[in-house]
Amino acid sequence: MNILVTGANGQLGNEMRIVAGEMHSAGHNFIFTDVCEVEGLQTTMLDITDLSAVKAIVAEHNVQAIVNCAAYTNVDGAESAQQVAELLNATAPENLALAIKEVGGLLVHISTDYVFGGDPYNTPCTEELKGTPTGVYGLTKLHGEEKIAATGCNYTIIRTAWLYSEFGKNFCKTMLNLTATKPALNVVFDQVGTPTYALDLAKAICVVLEDFCKEKLVLPDSKIPESAGEAYSKTGIYHFSNEGVCSWYDFTKMIASISGQTECNVQPCHSNEFPSPVKRPSYSVLDKTKIKDTFGVEVPYWVDSLKVCIENLKKQ
Ligand SMILES: NC(=O)c1ccc[n+]([C@@H]2O[C@H](COP(=O)([O-])OP(=O)(O)OC[C@H]3O[C@@H](n4cnc5c(N)ncnc54)[C@H](OP(=O)(O)O)[C@@H]3O)[C@@H](O)[C@H]2O)c1
Repeated sequence: MNILVTGANGQLGNEMRIVAGEMHSAGHNFIFTDVCEVEGLQTTMLDITDLSAVKAIVAEHNVQAIVNCAAYTNVDGAESAQQVAELLNATAPENLALAIKEVGGLLVHISTDYVFGGDPYNTPCTEELKGTPTGVYGLTKLHGEEKIAATGCNYTIIRTAWLYSEFGKNFCKTMLNLTATKPALNVVFDQVGTPTYALDLAKAICVVLEDFCKEKLVLPDSKIPESAGEAYSKTGIYHFSNEGVCSWYDFTKMIASISGQTECNVQPCHSNEFPSPVKRPSYSVLDKTKIKDTFGVEVPYWVDSLKVCIENLKKQ
């Protein structure tokens, strides 16, 4: 398959670049796109808010699958940039859906646990539960999901949570830095979820891509055959994070412990000690039964993945 990756210079996009190596040997070809050049990374320029540009690149490269790693991800910033967030998180994914529908391909889109938050859930959230976002970011991501579904394209929307990686800015890297440099730190314990190592998510995305390829019998460098015109049987919403449950406080304690930075006195605190324009979900653990049962995706325990990421960071 020819696979277009958008937002390829972000956290998840960079992990997609890593897993692409194995997919390459299986005969798949990747086109990595983003809005800015980054030194050392081969990137084709594509602004996904531009529908005609998206359609043109899909045609030019005979694209059969799109992995959308691009988004407006600044949760607090979205509160004062609603139009931009809506454009990038809702209209742009619709553009991708419209373009991929024309060629009968698959859109893998990434959404968020922040579609939940206003709901008093206290057991892991399944895909069927109603989401009531508490802020603009979550609301625009929910709109994105709805717009993709409304196009009628083949899609898998994967909601994930608490993403971290070796790349870009994220909680893990921030806490590695703070626990190494501060004598004491307060971290909230009243928001509970599960961290997700972006490399694990990228691997899960590859499983989905392989499954689509198998079902549609797409041969390398060929167009999707007529016979594969029916809807992809696994179109729908899925949840993926690592296994287990923790608070941001527990996450920080584990980051400090794994990296050996135990001098810093990390203490639990309440969310109201960190005033923010957006109320974060107090409980947004994702139930991953559906993605495991449907695709046979393996989900590592969050502590095991955190160890791998910190090891990989040391090698950089
Ligand atoms: N981060 C989390 O904790 C988290 C949690 C749950 C779900 N998610 C979801 O996971 C996905 C990946 O997140 P991430 O953390 O990897 O995101 P990220 O690091 O912020 O990367 C997003 C990428 O998209 C690019 N981009 C911005 N505007 C664009 C446009 N108009 N066209 C094409 N690309 C554009 C960005 O470029 P610039 O940097 O130059 O703007 C950036 O390279 C997103 O859908 C996000 O909503 C993230």
